[in-house]
Amino acid sequence: MTDPQDAIDAEADTRAVERDPRIEDRTAGERQEGIPFIGAGPGDPGLLTVTGRELVEAADLIVHAGSLVNSELLDEYGASAEQVSSIGKDLEELVPLMRDAYEAGRTVVRLHSGDPAIYGAALEQMDALEHEGVPTYIVPGVTAAFAASATLRTQLTLNGVANHVAFTRPQGQTLDPEDDHIGEFVEMGDVTTCIYLGTHAVDEMMDRLLEDGHDPETPVTVIYHASWPDEEIIEGTIGTIGERLEAAGYRASALVIIGDAARKAGYERSYLYGDWANRSSTESEADD
Ligand SMILES: C[S@@+](CC[C@H](N)C(=O)[O-])C[C@H]1O[C@@H](n2cnc3c(N)ncnc32)[C@H](O)[C@@H]1O
Repeated sequence: MTDPQDAIDAEADTRAVERDPRIEDRTAGERQEGIPFIGAGPGDPGLLTVTGRELVEAADLIVHAGSLVNSELLDEYGASAEQVSSIGKDLEELVPLMRDAYEAGRTVVRLHSGDPAIYGAALEQMDALEHEGVPTYIVPGVTAAFAASATLRTQLTLNGVANHVAFTRPQGQTLDPEDDHIGEFVEMGDVTTCIYLGTHAVDEMMDRLLEDGHDPETPVTVIYHASWPDEEIIEGTIGTIGERLEAAGYRASALVIIGDAARKAGYERSYLYGDWANRSSTESEADD
C-alpha cells in the first residue's frame, strides 16, 4: 500500500490538473460505484437517511466510527454484516481492510457519525482508497449541530439574533492555539458557535473567553448525546457552564453551543414571511 500521505498528495496533484468527472456526472444521494462514506447521523437510527439505511442493509462489511454510531442502528440495519470499529485503527490498517474486502467482491460501507464532512477525517481515507484503485463517494448525514438545534427546538440562524453559524473546535492536540477562533466568533455577536470535540475542555475554553474580556453572561448550552435516549441539556453561561458540566460529569460526546439562538430569546419575525413575501417571486431567496 502507498504511504497514506503520498497517496493524499498524489490525489491532490491529479485534482489540480483535472476535475474529477464524477463531480459533473453524479449527484449527492445517488448510488455510485465503490465504497460509500455514509453519515450515520447523530445517534437515533431514524435520523439515518433512507439511502444510508439501504446501503447499510445491503453491506457485507461495515466499518464504523465506534461509540458515536449507535449500536441500535448497527443492530437494526446491519445485523447480517461483519462490523468493525475504526477506533484505534490507523489509515495503514483501515485502508487495506476496506480495499481487500472490496476487491474480494464484498459490499463495504464506511459509517461515520453525523455527517462525514464535519470533523470526520473521511477525505484522507477516500483519497488513500482511490489511490489504491477503489472508488468512493459520500452519502451525507445529519450533523450533531442540527440534531442539537432540533433538541432545543430552535434554529441556529435566527432573525435579529444570529446571522451566521460557525462549526468549530477548540485548540488542543490537533489545533494550535493561534488557529482557535472561538473568541473571534463570540466577539462577532451574531454568530451561533457550535463547538465539536470540546466536551473535555469546556472549563479551559470558558477561562480563555473570560481572560479575553467576553461577557460572562453570554449563554452557553451543552447538548450531550443529542437524539440518544440519554440525551441531556445543560444550560449556563460563559461564567457558569464549566462548573455545571463538571457536576454533570460529561467528558465527551457533547456539542457546546455559544450564543443566544439556543435560548430563542429576542428574535424578530423574518423578512421572508413579512413584506418581502408580497414582492416579486422572481427573487431567488423566496424558497429558503
Ligand atoms: C469526531 S466529531 C464527529 C462529528 C460528526 N461528523 C458530526 O457531523 O456530527 C465528534 C464530536 O461530534 C459531536 N457529536 C457527535 N455526535 C453528537 C451527538 N449526538 N450529540 C452531541 N454531540 C455530538 C461531539 O462534539 C463529538 O466530540
